[in-house]
Amino acid sequence: MEERACWHPVAYSSAIQDQPVGVTLCDEPVVLWRDRQGEMKAMKDLCIHRGVALSLGKVCDGALICAYHGWRYDNEGKCIFVPQLDDQNKIPPKAKIETYQCREEHGMVWVALDAPRFDLPDIPELKSPEWHIAETGPFPWKAAAGRQVENFTDFAHFPFVHPELLGDPERPLVPPYSVKREDHILNYEITRPEARNTKDFPIFANPDQEQPLRHNRYQLHLPYTIVLRISWPGTEKSMIYLFASQPVGRKTCIGYCIIAQNYTPFEAEVLRQFEGVIFSQDQTIVESQRPEQVPFDLSAELHLKFDAVAVAYRRSLIEFGFEI
Ligand code: FES
Ligand code: FE
Repeated sequence: MEERACWHPVAYSSAIQDQPVGVTLCDEPVVLWRDRQGEMKAMKDLCIHRGVALSLGKVCDGALICAYHGWRYDNEGKCIFVPQLDDQNKIPPKAKIETYQCREEHGMVWVALDAPRFDLPDIPELKSPEWHIAETGPFPWKAAAGRQVENFTDFAHFPFVHPELLGDPERPLVPPYSVKREDHILNYEITRPEARNTKDFPIFANPDQEQPLRHNRYQLHLPYTIVLRISWPGTEKSMIYLFASQPVGRKTCIGYCIIAQNYTPFEAEVLRQFEGVIFSQDQTIVESQRPEQVPFDLSAELHLKFDAVAVAYRRSLIEFGFEI
């Protein structure tokens, strides 16, 4: 399946310290751990001896030790010590764990189960000290990753699902926009009505609090990663959202959302609370969607002109072979 040959987020980097952590990616159990140099490793979460989850074990002296009988694996997945053997030269060469490509970027751990066909998005702002960064979530949903992604980029729902927070119920019209695809990236931008800041969440830097508008520039990197740049007329202040969804299985996902601001940041905790509210409003809606996956038969739904992103998303997923 093509999903396997893509980078997906599986954790925030900070969540993986000195002990192994088990995650699931495309129904595959994966153990994450750091070797002696602190480098992140991703391997099949399954001991070759008796199939126990290696994430139950521990990391010691740069090796991953199984919790059941203490077999030790090095950072390439090779078994280097079997306590029950008197001669360690007798370890069979087959005693090896499958390893996966793994990297840390933008504060997240990314894993590709097969050789990745696309690069991760380059976001220079996230490396600049002028930008203040907050991690929100993670957001585990009982929904397919594609559903979580298309909800993140849906323009029409803001006044209904997030009234007074992201959308204005008095201004539900979706302004015209178009989608341009470059390779595996969908590019589109829109200036749309925004909600006024609330007392609880005075997060956005819009100077106009009467009829506020926001400019959104999106890059949707197939299959499940979005970079969104937000700006407002009349100010240099702006925000960047990096949103990526981990396809845990075909009907479950976990969203990671990093928010960067180039102006005096609000406490990360305020942003976390804000996104906690937004994502839980979305979660109720999206978990009710049927079918659970984004349907690839365009006639199975009713698409209107303002759904151009959803249509382009489906067509591009089909073109790149993500159709399940
Ligand atoms: Fe892992 Fe036996 S199951 S060492
Ligand atoms: Fe939403």
